Amino acid sequence: MPDTLTKLAYQTFQQSKQAFGFTHKTLANRLREVISPVAPDSTSDIPAPTLAILKQRLDELTEVDWQDAAAGVYPTSLLFDNPWDDFFKYYPMVVMDTPSVWDRAKNKQYQDFGADVSTDGYPDYYVQNFHHQTDGYLGEMSANLYDLQVEILFNGSADPMRRRILAPLKHHIERVIGTPKVLDVACGTGRTLKMIRDTLPQTSLHGVDLSPTYLRKANDLLSREPGTLPQLIHANAEALPYLDNYFDATVSVFLFHELPGEVRQTVINEAYRVTKSGGVFVICDSIQKLDTPEFAPMMENFPSVFHEPYYRHYSTDDMTARLESAGFSDVEVSNHFMSKYWVAKKA
Ligand SMILES: C[S@@+](CC[C@H](N)C(=O)[O-])C[C@H]1O[C@@H](n2cnc3c(N)ncnc32)[C@H](O)[C@@H]1O
Repeated sequence: MPDTLTKLAYQTFQQSKQAFGFTHKTLANRLREVISPVAPDSTSDIPAPTLAILKQRLDELTEVDWQDAAAGVYPTSLLFDNPWDDFFKYYPMVVMDTPSVWDRAKNKQYQDFGADVSTDGYPDYYVQNFHHQTDGYLGEMSANLYDLQVEILFNGSADPMRRRILAPLKHHIERVIGTPKVLDVACGTGRTLKMIRDTLPQTSLHGVDLSPTYLRKANDLLSREPGTLPQLIHANAEALPYLDNYFDATVSVFLFHELPGEVRQTVINEAYRVTKSGGVFVICDSIQKLDTPEFAPMMENFPSVFHEPYYRHYSTDDMTARLESAGFSDVEVSNHFMSKYWVAKKA
């Protein structure tokens, strides 16, 4: 397909995802006002100028994503990669589960787990209904609905935001002699690992996560298509089950805002330990308060609306200082739409 047609197809695809996310949220909010109303001051409308900045940043993200694919940083097919079967299978469940999410939010129930879900042995900070979601990160249904919920939350931009780690990662990995090894810390349902495999097929991939159900989901996703199966391990990122200096690169996507400050530091120290000398650690997470002051009111609201107990602390945390205190250097920081990126080197 000529470039202009592919670009148009990609823009249309993204716009449909935006429209879908927006429509879902608008209808859900209207329904909530009837079924499970919240106190008027617990949410706030986004002012028009902030919405305009959001739209501009989203357009910039779409453009840079397209530019990277067109330049061959990753295959164009990645731009259209969407788990359609899950979408049709699980969207009705997202809708049906929504009233219980509202109930949990309204009743401030943050540790509500089904009888069939074992919470034994997990750190206290983890045993939470993040995003008020059913069974937190520990249920089968949560693993099935997660990607769709994130797509709705970010109006279809979750994967484009994840893809921003690929250019710095590839830049580093291409210089490695032999088979490079890459670790995804808190790999969740495996979307980032899949992107890395499609971009760097000769890489030996590894992923850890604390959720057994999310790891199972990741295994499903990664087994569906040809390619070497990443090694997935059920482990706490605070004690990574790998030797020192093992990986050429370590990445982590959307993890740090869900950790208490001191755990954030422990995980960064672990990433440093397992990364080889000369290697990189690439982080993608939420933007922080100083990045776009216009988004600050929205970010103030985010922790209570989505039950993100550590987000407020994260939003002003000096991650560069944490990376440097672990031993990393030459930390490069950038922003794309609602995300922030740190690329840190281990000398
Ligand atoms: C917001 S999700 C992000 C998942 C995935 N990286 C993505 O891009 O969608 C946070 C993930 O971090 C995992 N997690 C949280 N604390 C962890 C820890 N201490 N060790 C390992 N995984 C953890 C959760 O199980 C969940 O899969």
